[in-house]
Amino acid sequence: MTAHVDVRSSGAIQIIRLVRPEKKNALTGAMYRILADALAAGDKNDEVAAQVILGSGGVFSAGNDIADFMQAAQSGKGLGDDVTRFITALATVEKPLLAGVDGRAVGIGTTMLFHCDLVYATPAAQFSTPFLDLGLVPEAGSSFLLPRLIGYQRAFEMLVLGAVFSADRARECGFVNHVVEAGALEDRVLEAAARLAAKPPEALSMARRLLKGAPQQLTAQMREEERLFSERARSPEAVEAFRAFLEKRPANFGRARGVGEA
Ligand code: COA
Repeated sequence: MTAHVDVRSSGAIQIIRLVRPEKKNALTGAMYRILADALAAGDKNDEVAAQVILGSGGVFSAGNDIADFMQAAQSGKGLGDDVTRFITALATVEKPLLAGVDGRAVGIGTTMLFHCDLVYATPAAQFSTPFLDLGLVPEAGSSFLLPRLIGYQRAFEMLVLGAVFSADRARECGFVNHVVEAGALEDRVLEAAARLAAKPPEALSMARRLLKGAPQQLTAQMREEERLFSERARSPEAVEAFRAFLEKRPANFGRARGVGEA
């Protein structure tokens, strides 16, 4: 079985690539574990100056694996510590984090980008967070970061209405730096990472800390999101939405059933 996440170094850059194209790079528990470990290891390793997250197969990520959501709801055990470890690492990582997005970025595939220092996207990139349609609430600090990043109404449009943002709209809103052709995406991201790697490391680290500000408010909001998210993930509404996706049918919230109900 493949690990579905490829982690390798290129000079002073650690490249973390999502490789589960047959499931649109949807993230499983095992993938979260590798992602969390990779971010932590990259941060600790003196040889690494910057980290880059990429997708594959013309997709960035379809977000959390919905079969995992369903299993977590049915077992009552929740999504597990690795999800929390990954999103905490996103908020607390000390070295620059960059992303290159081609194709769909859904759920955590989009919300992880709000933690990145630089984001490049292709014209085919599309960003969406259908949390509400799944009976869930926004996660990974997005309810804190996005209103501050793009303004309340636009954040509401994405996080609550569930609007899909194109690459151009994302750039206009400010959470994508540049839109570049697919063939140039990875070179462009790696070139930016290499430019950062050539900067004086101590000054880089301090500048980044100044721009990011103190993380306490963000991490407190993340804990509150997590509390509500795990409550919602077991709700009849969410279970109906997960079932509907797995059965490839529209959800019917008028008939939302609990776990185990016929
Ligand atoms: N979890 C589990 N499986 C997923 C998935 C997810 N988040 N996203 C896609 N897949 C699977 C599909 O079930 C399908 O599997 P199958 O071939 O075994 O039937 C395969 O990946 C291809 O997906 P498909 O829906 O056929 O591709 P598409 O190009 O028509 O649509 C998306 C791509 C991303 C728009 C669509 O798959 C989608 O909406 N996925 C769910 C996104 C989501 O709600 N994520 C959770 C956010 S919190």
